[in-house]
Amino acid sequence: ALPYDLAGLRVLISAGGTREPLDPVRFLGNHSSGKQGYALGRAAAQRGAEVTIVAGTVSAAGDPAGVDIVGVGSAEQMATEMTKRAADADVVIMAAAVADFRPVSMADAKIKKGDQGPAPIELTTNPDILRGLVEARTEGRIAASTVIVGFAAETGDETGGVLDHGRAKFKRKGCDLLVVNAVGNGKAFGTEDNTGWLLSSGGEETALPPGSKTLMASRILDEIRTLVPDETEN
Ligand code: PMT
Repeated sequence: ALPYDLAGLRVLISAGGTREPLDPVRFLGNHSSGKQGYALGRAAAQRGAEVTIVAGTVSAAGDPAGVDIVGVGSAEQMATEMTKRAADADVVIMAAAVADFRPVSMADAKIKKGDQGPAPIELTTNPDILRGLVEARTEGRIAASTVIVGFAAETGDETGGVLDHGRAKFKRKGCDLLVVNAVGNGKAFGTEDNTGWLLSSGGEETALPPGSKTLMASRILDEIRTLVPDETEN
C-alpha cells in the first residue's frame, strides 16, 4: 500500500510542453507528453496531497483522479499560473519542458510562403519560471518553507556527460532538489520509462535506475517528503 504521508500538503506541478505561437496556426513546441508530471500528480494525490497541475501540451498522460488541472499554452502563460499559485503551495515541482525562446511576435495572419524562400524567425528569451520561483522565495514573496524541485533534461556532449550538465544546472537554478533525466535518442520525452539522478542541496546524488515514470514519481516524492519542514507534517 502507498504511504499516506503527504496528507494536507499542497503540491503544485507543471507538466507537458509549451507552445510558442508563430501565427494563428503554427507554434514552436517540444516532445514532452506530460507523463512524468502527471505520474507525480497522481502519486502525490494517492499519498494524500492536494494537487494542482499546470499543464501545457500533454498526450496519453492519463487523467489523474482528484487532481486540479489548469491548462496553459505558452511559457509566459505557464509562468503566470505557476507564479500566482506557488504562494499557496508547500511543494512546487517544475516537470514541464518549457521553451527557452519564443518568436518575438505572433503574426496576426497565417505567414505566407512568399517568393523569397523561408523568412527567418526572430526569437526572444522566455522567463525562467524555476529561477523566478527561487527568487520569489528569496525575496519573501513565497514562504521560505516552500520546497522547490526542478528537472533537467540533458544529453551528453564533448563538454560533459548528463550528470555533469545536471550538476552545473543545479548550481545555476538554486532549487532544493533537481531530477536529472537523460534525454535524446528516444529517452524520457514521451516514453513510459525514465532514468537519471536526484541531486539534493545537501550534496547527495542518488542514481535513479531505469523504471516506469510512476516508480520515478514515488522515489522523487519520498525524497521531497524528507525536505518538507516539520510544522507542515501531519
Ligand atoms: O513529459 P514527458 O514526456 O513525460 O517527459 C518528461 C520530461 C523529460 C519532459 C521531464 O522529465 C523533464 O525533464 N522536464 C524538464 C525538461 C526541461 O525543459 O528541462 P530544462 O533542462 O530545459 O529545464 C530545467 C528546469 O527549468 C526544468 O525544471 C524546467 O521546467 C525549468 N524551466 C526551463 C526553462 C524555462 N524557461 N523555465 C523553466 O522553469
